[in-house]
Amino acid sequence: MEKHFAVIGDPIAHSLSPIMHQAGYKAAGYEADYQKFEVKPEALGEAVRGLKALGFTGWNVTVPHKEAIIPYLDELTVEAQRAGAVNTVKLMHNRLLGHNTDGSGFIRSLKDHLELDKGKKIAILGAGGAAKGIAMALTPFNVQLMILNRTPERAAELAQRVCEQGGQATQEAWGWGEWIAQADCLIQTTSIGLKNEPYPFSLEGIRPGCLVVDIIFNPWETPFLKSAKTMDCQVLNGIDMLLYQGVNAWEFWFEDQAPVEAMRRALYAACKPIR
Ligand code: ATR
Repeated sequence: MEKHFAVIGDPIAHSLSPIMHQAGYKAAGYEADYQKFEVKPEALGEAVRGLKALGFTGWNVTVPHKEAIIPYLDELTVEAQRAGAVNTVKLMHNRLLGHNTDGSGFIRSLKDHLELDKGKKIAILGAGGAAKGIAMALTPFNVQLMILNRTPERAAELAQRVCEQGGQATQEAWGWGEWIAQADCLIQTTSIGLKNEPYPFSLEGIRPGCLVVDIIFNPWETPFLKSAKTMDCQVLNGIDMLLYQGVNAWEFWFEDQAPVEAMRRALYAACKPIR
């Protein structure tokens, strides 16, 4: 029997999830489809009831519904509880189970390039929603986090949250301080790149080989990543985060290994115009 999947959000027109998942179904020989639906905030409850009534096996949830959907679900996985947000829903025995693969997807993309152990020093720039998801996903690993944010109170709050959950985090004033020379990895999560504003910090003094991450992929190579490249750093954009949150959602739905390379090829091909 054909299974149905979707992604809901607002806006949703540019979502690449259908392309990625459909390529996966084809590669795995599954009978399934994946659609995208624009759902306005005021229609979220109705949309959830509709997807359930129509027998959708599962769906992804994106901005602005990741937190708002929680009251409409029957149960949350530990990952969703920890994140306080849901990006994946599964219909099981007529109950809706909310899950979160954003954090695990980020970790999987990072692990392709960096071993997360031995007290590696990771600096996170920003303390907004995206930074919080990343910091909490890194908390169970043996890494030292340094949070830097324009508004120091938010950085302090996030560092405290990480420590309360058993992780290691400190907070520095906006700017790198001594950290720039010590960091094994820098993760840029602020919305500066998206807004095309100039970055208020320089990478002067960074260790060659340091892994520099920007969590967006449009532009494919942000000015931050471009300048990291000139300093002999490794660079990583956000496309693999999108890939692996999708891969992990697939594996949650099908309880089977996802055809990662087929999904990656489709996603990268769809990004050709911006690469
Ligand atoms: P998101 O969910 O995408 O992380 P957010 O929660 O609004 O969005 O957080 C945006 C992040 O970008 C914050 O860390 C913000 O810093 P403040 O906490 O000081 O607001 C950061 N940010 C956005 N524009 C910035 C700018 N021009 N300079 C420095 N930081 C900026």
